[in-house]
Amino acid sequence: MDKFLIEGGKSLRGTMTISGSKNAALPLMAAALLADGPVTITNVPLLNDIFTFNKVISETGTQVLFDQEKRELTIDPTHLNNHVAPYDLVRKMRASFYMTGALLGAAGDARVSLPGGCAWGPRPVNLHLEGMRALGASIEMDSGYVIAKAPNGRLPGGTFTMNPSSVGATVNLVLAAVKAGGKSVIRNAAMEPDVVNLCDNLNTLGARISGAGTPLLVIDGVDHIAPGTIHNTPDRIETGTYMIAAAMIPDSDVTLTNTLARDLGSFTDTFRKLRVGLEVGDSTIRIRSADRIPPVSIETAIYPGFPTDLQAQWATMMTQADGKSTVTDHIYPDRFSYVPELVRLGADIDRRDNTVIIRGRSLLKGASVMSTDLRASVSLVMAGLVARDETEVLRVYHLDRGYEKLEDKLNGVGAAIKRVSG
Ligand code: EPZ
Repeated sequence: MDKFLIEGGKSLRGTMTISGSKNAALPLMAAALLADGPVTITNVPLLNDIFTFNKVISETGTQVLFDQEKRELTIDPTHLNNHVAPYDLVRKMRASFYMTGALLGAAGDARVSLPGGCAWGPRPVNLHLEGMRALGASIEMDSGYVIAKAPNGRLPGGTFTMNPSSVGATVNLVLAAVKAGGKSVIRNAAMEPDVVNLCDNLNTLGARISGAGTPLLVIDGVDHIAPGTIHNTPDRIETGTYMIAAAMIPDSDVTLTNTLARDLGSFTDTFRKLRVGLEVGDSTIRIRSADRIPPVSIETAIYPGFPTDLQAQWATMMTQADGKSTVTDHIYPDRFSYVPELVRLGADIDRRDNTVIIRGRSLLKGASVMSTDLRASVSLVMAGLVARDETEVLRVYHLDRGYEKLEDKLNGVGAAIKRVSG
């Protein structure tokens, strides 16, 4: 298993290119199964989760061609003939569960393994299943698999109110409803840019979805989704991650390119409270760190609130703030596996239920720390960038799932990260 050796204390200065979004690309890949022929997706990041999902999709008899140079993925469902997503793949990447909605929409029949939990606890799919039933699917369980069927091979459509709002369940229900025989209404739908990007792209291929980006999605089922080219959006979580990294490392001046500031929701307003240099363009963001980091407390919320996928990174920055702050996660109350690892580096941080109290002014010193999940891992790398001496971050395969060429991008602006294969 690969690890990183990080020599701390280097400022970040220069330009970093943001890759396509992992969490927006995965729904687009599943949506391609609904088309009458090949769909090409642009701006697809080179990430292990993408490669894993390619394998899941290929299991169905669908052809998948990934032009990694151009970052373009072509998915041709013409020969889709196997309506199964197997456990050994789904357990590696839970978004494979999108195959339920995609196969229901494409073939009226799906046998998909229930996804496992993850590093920070159970990740239920009850809303996905209740929603599918509301659209007219029969749902049964068999040996850890969901067996979903549409009466007479095509869902009639229906109405479903989601509680809580769920990104994944919204994606799955859109995929199931797009080619239904009638109209579907999803209330309290997720408003994340990942969902908006899915709906907008499907509409360019002939879908009839209205209300994307609002809590009320209305989907008029259509008979056909055309082949064509659709476009993935830049990764807003990668963007937020590098904004925080630049703000927390002294004497840094970083410009992010190929990004989309409007997708950051309220995060940008919260970020401004740091009083760092911030220049926001349409596709670029420049961050210059300041002499001090004020303590700024955050609470996560669904979009456009503060993203749960950035709370670990924010808490790590707050270890350097000149005062006490708190980070509360209302989406995933247990998403704090990074805390004991930050303590190993010298952080003064305590957890109480779904809140961490960070006392700031921590002089971090290098140590060996363990990655546990994608966003916790990148937070440990960020801590290593400011810690004195050398930090060893173990099990960086977690990072390779969701951050394209992380060490190359950071070393390109002055960091000293060495990947050791082992
Ligand atoms: C998506 O996960 C993202 N993953 C996650 O990013 C992200 O943290 C999460 O949305 C929240 O923004 C992808 O897009 C692939 P949810 P998802 O369903 O869809 C509860 C990363 O680091 N819930 O919106 O699984 C659930 O327990 C990953 O890139 C139910 O109760 O998240 C949670 O409290 C990690 N029943 C809340 O909803 C359900 O059936 C939000 O979860 C589904 C969800």
